[in-house]
Amino acid sequence: MDLQEIKQSVFKEIGEAKEIKTLEKVRIKYLGRKGFLTNILKSLKGLPLEKRREIGPIANELKREIENALKDKKEFLITNASFRPLDLSLPGKKINLGHLHPFTALERQINEIFARMGFEIIESDEIETEYYNFDALNIPADHPARDMWDTFWLKEKSLNKQKYLLRTHTSPVQVHYMEKHEPPFRIVSPGKVYRYEAIDASHDIQFHQLECLVVDENINFSNFKFIVLSFFQQLFSKEIKIQFVPSYFPFVEPGVQINISCPKCKGKGCALCKNSGWLEIAGAGMVHPKVFEYVGYNPKQWQGFAFGLGLERIAMIKYNIPDIRLFNSGDLRFIKQF
Ligand code: DAH
Repeated sequence: MDLQEIKQSVFKEIGEAKEIKTLEKVRIKYLGRKGFLTNILKSLKGLPLEKRREIGPIANELKREIENALKDKKEFLITNASFRPLDLSLPGKKINLGHLHPFTALERQINEIFARMGFEIIESDEIETEYYNFDALNIPADHPARDMWDTFWLKEKSLNKQKYLLRTHTSPVQVHYMEKHEPPFRIVSPGKVYRYEAIDASHDIQFHQLECLVVDENINFSNFKFIVLSFFQQLFSKEIKIQFVPSYFPFVEPGVQINISCPKCKGKGCALCKNSGWLEIAGAGMVHPKVFEYVGYNPKQWQGFAFGLGLERIAMIKYNIPDIRLFNSGDLRFIKQF
């Protein structure tokens, strides 16, 4: 190819190139080590001076022109490759939204039910003193009932010589609230509690309870049963039945264990209720006169009832969750089911 032929074909090829890859091939074909124009430039050395003077500048000028044309075309291809016409019919990009943890959702639902029934929702501390967790609830140091609550003790505080602990139940909130308020009132207080015990499918060292306390004049067992029944029917279904079984807690008299009819088999008997048709769901009772004395209430004037619910247990029953450890597992396969 002579210069004239090169000139004719190279610009045509650059003009027709639709991809950067093709441009590169064109560059190699003409300007590469063995390219047509390179060969001509190399051959200049062997030519007489006159010829060299004549062809040299033309060849060099052509080289510059080809380089510029390649550069311009390359830029054009780059900017135009990223251009896509706007397609208004494309579906939107899906945004992944999070949602509430099933346990949080349940806690909110329970709070709503109590709020509708006129209860105030109270926050309470997770670090307690021995006095509030035990003594003021009529559980003295030598009382055998202390064994019922395996305790995480914290280091003794020298300031007031109090023994601190992680509360083993939400019941201390009863004492705190009554010390600062006069009856009548209805409160619930959900929160974390701690037990120093072996972890398995139904026990964890940290779990949640909800404490309920109602104090007024003339509060009786019927009021108590009505509130409990109404709560569980709102939470599960209208068909739920309740059962009060005599039990013992030092801060209530009489003390009861509340059972609900199994929401899964409707009381017929299944694996969840171990074929009994009933599920133990709460400790409860009429507030012990001794507890009223501790907070300075006159037990002859005031009566009350209290109960404590295990919230994980309720969530496990409601959502059919087989293992308490799943709640804090962080396993997305678990969370995404709700
Ligand atoms: N605090 C008790 C527990 O953790 C449950 C309980 C029983 C709470 C009786 C109460 C009550 O308010 O009256 O096992």
